[in-house]
Amino acid sequence: MNLTPSGIVKFLDQYVIGQADAKKVLAVVVYSHFRKLGLQRDSIALALGKSNVLLIGPTGTGKTLLCETLSHAIDVPFVTADATSLAQTKYVNEEIEVMLMRLVSKAGGDMEKAERGIVFIDEIDKLKSAGGQAGTSSGESVQHALLKIMEGAPVKLGTGQTIDTSNILFICGGAFVGLDNVVSRSHTYGFISLTDAVNQQILERLNSRIKPTDLISFGLIPEFTGRLPVVASLQPLTEALLVRIMTEPENCLYRQFRAVFESEGVELRIAPKVFSEIAALAVEYKVGARSLRGIFEEMITPILYVVPDRREIRKVVITSLFAEASLLTE
Ligand SMILES: Nc1ncnc2c1ncn2[C@@H]1O[C@H](COP(=O)(O)OP(=O)(O)OP(=O)(O)O)[C@@H](O)[C@H]1O
Ligand SMILES: [Mg+2]
Repeated sequence: MNLTPSGIVKFLDQYVIGQADAKKVLAVVVYSHFRKLGLQRDSIALALGKSNVLLIGPTGTGKTLLCETLSHAIDVPFVTADATSLAQTKYVNEEIEVMLMRLVSKAGGDMEKAERGIVFIDEIDKLKSAGGQAGTSSGESVQHALLKIMEGAPVKLGTGQTIDTSNILFICGGAFVGLDNVVSRSHTYGFISLTDAVNQQILERLNSRIKPTDLISFGLIPEFTGRLPVVASLQPLTEALLVRIMTEPENCLYRQFRAVFESEGVELRIAPKVFSEIAALAVEYKVGARSLRGIFEEMITPILYVVPDRREIRKVVITSLFAEASLLTE
């Protein structure tokens, strides 16, 4: 694969629909990560520092999917950890150590390779500073524990080896529910727009930018936000994007169910209108693409119930979510 930023985006496009901005940001960061490793001993490389990334966006819009897909695109060890489970244990440092050990094993035991890997920490917004429960760690103390490794530090592993995290790229993801209220309260660039119409787009971009102060108001500690210099936002999925999610990717719902029917010797055909109807419902459920499967299965299950008993059926045609499907025998 072509590992330029646009090559990475092209790969992501096969599986993740929409989210062009977030894809670009991620691709550039990952590309720079590679370049920097190439320049390892260069003083510029050292000065470049690390561009750990924060992925923000509503639930079910592709944050986790983006990172998982990315891990298939590039040939570096990649591990995923869940901030919620880090906060559920008293032994945060041990958990972090286990995560780094997983990275080493992903690298086939090659420490140097592991030290250039990528760690994805999901659900980072659950580490809001608020009192932890007994037997768990408070979000804030997990943030402190993560700070150290994100900054770059030698960590002693259970195996006796030491891993240096200075060149590991950290990507954090979270839905940050309620952050939009914080952001809309802190807009400040409005007045410039009167003077220069050409720059309206740049202005809008600046205005929609999530600032470190917004994240701090949300509940991340300043030192933690400071180590996530790059923020990529994912957008809510529109009806049109939801339709594409059901029908375009190689492993999309439509293809999955066509394969299920095919194994019964039956052709499944769903009219385009049906996908729009499902997407319209899904938008109302407000959980992004997550509700698509449920709605889809509800529509298909009654049909899948009868098809195996009726061997004469050759074709199933669905023309509306709100009408009976036609079971055809020719
Ligand atoms: N942009 C997208 N393109 C294709 N599929 C998507 C997209 N967004 C979501 N999906 C589908 O929805 C599922 C859930 O998405 P994902 O796990 O990435 O959500 P998330 O943004 O991480 O949400 P959360 O904040 O709740 O963790 C994915 O497994 C995928 O099937
Ligand atoms: Mg997720």
